[in-house]
Amino acid sequence: MLKVGIIGSGFMGLTHGNAYKQLEDVEIAGFVGAGEANRRKRAQEFNTREYPSLDALLDAEDVDIIDICTPSHLNVPMVQTAAAAGKAILLEKPVALNLDEAEQIRDIVHSRGVTLMVAHLLRFWPEYVKARELVAGGQLGTPRLASAARICQPPDWATWYPDPARSGGVALVLLVHDIDFCNWLFGAPREVTAAGHQNALGAWDDLHILVRYHSGVSVSFRGSMIMPAGYPFTMQLRVRGDDGGLEYIFRAGVNLEDPGSAQSEFTLYKDGVPTHPELSTVDGYLGEISYFVECVRAGRAPELGTIEESTLALRTALAANESAASGKPVAV
Ligand SMILES: NC(=O)c1ccc[n+]([C@@H]2O[C@H](COP(=O)([O-])OP(=O)(O)OC[C@H]3O[C@@H](n4cnc5c(N)ncnc54)[C@H](O)[C@@H]3O)[C@@H](O)[C@H]2O)c1
Repeated sequence: MLKVGIIGSGFMGLTHGNAYKQLEDVEIAGFVGAGEANRRKRAQEFNTREYPSLDALLDAEDVDIIDICTPSHLNVPMVQTAAAAGKAILLEKPVALNLDEAEQIRDIVHSRGVTLMVAHLLRFWPEYVKARELVAGGQLGTPRLASAARICQPPDWATWYPDPARSGGVALVLLVHDIDFCNWLFGAPREVTAAGHQNALGAWDDLHILVRYHSGVSVSFRGSMIMPAGYPFTMQLRVRGDDGGLEYIFRAGVNLEDPGSAQSEFTLYKDGVPTHPELSTVDGYLGEISYFVECVRAGRAPELGTIEESTLALRTALAANESAASGKPVAV
């Protein structure tokens, strides 16, 4: 039996909890949250215990995994505490809010010799996994161009997202998913140009980003967390290669609370015929959590969501914020 402590009783704590619940021989030992009512609610929903801090959970429970789902500015202290206790760590994206923090996390994890995976969900989301399979398998020929989008209303369940010191803005909140995915497809980014909207606190909350890769591919990213009320959570991917193209369009409800009820279409364009390739039916969050659990069980380092990959995605996202501020291209 593997025991998990979930740090954060909010939107992602709930989502990760629902995934662990579906796995055999995994027990959720408790939830941590800053708000008493919220963490109590989660503990009741999952028939488990609740703690006011990571330290309190570690004192009381002999867990194998610490799953960190707290606001991003807390990543370094949370990783520090979990790693000092020798626990395997699943860390929600982005890995950190700046490169100095990302280096601290890398050094803590290496010096303590613990397992850490950053939860870059798209590496497990069936349509993105299929897109990677098609591109890496050469089905589209040499890839030339791509575009990716992630746009939604302001998250209504939390107050910290508009604060750049806690979230990093839309490039780190949303587009870091797409950037990490495109880095996986196209290799190392070379240069980033961006423009967009900055909120009163200084966060870039709506961005157009153009990333040029060393491989020659260029990708335009579109991210917004300030769409008007009623706008559905939307994600899109298009890839054009010499021998074909693909498109994925997904529109859910207010947010990603019920992916199963979303409108979703994945189309491959090849030899003049649009087709809809068969996709895995495993939910992306469940795929991500079960991969991590399998790695921990086998004592194997995860090959997806590594610190190096997530730091490259962070570096690219930070370059977008810098370019939006300066109006100039930024080398990655
Ligand atoms: N992969 C995805 O699809 C996805 C989606 C949303 C959020 N996220 C990521 O998940 C993480 C959490 O986001 P969320 O939307 O669930 O946030 P949230 O605000 O809903 O939940 C945050 C939780 O952290 C707790 N918390 C805050 N400060 C704390 C502290 N000092 N000690 C202990 N607990 C504390 C809060 O009480 C709350 O329970 C972030 O890293 C975010 O980037 C990922």
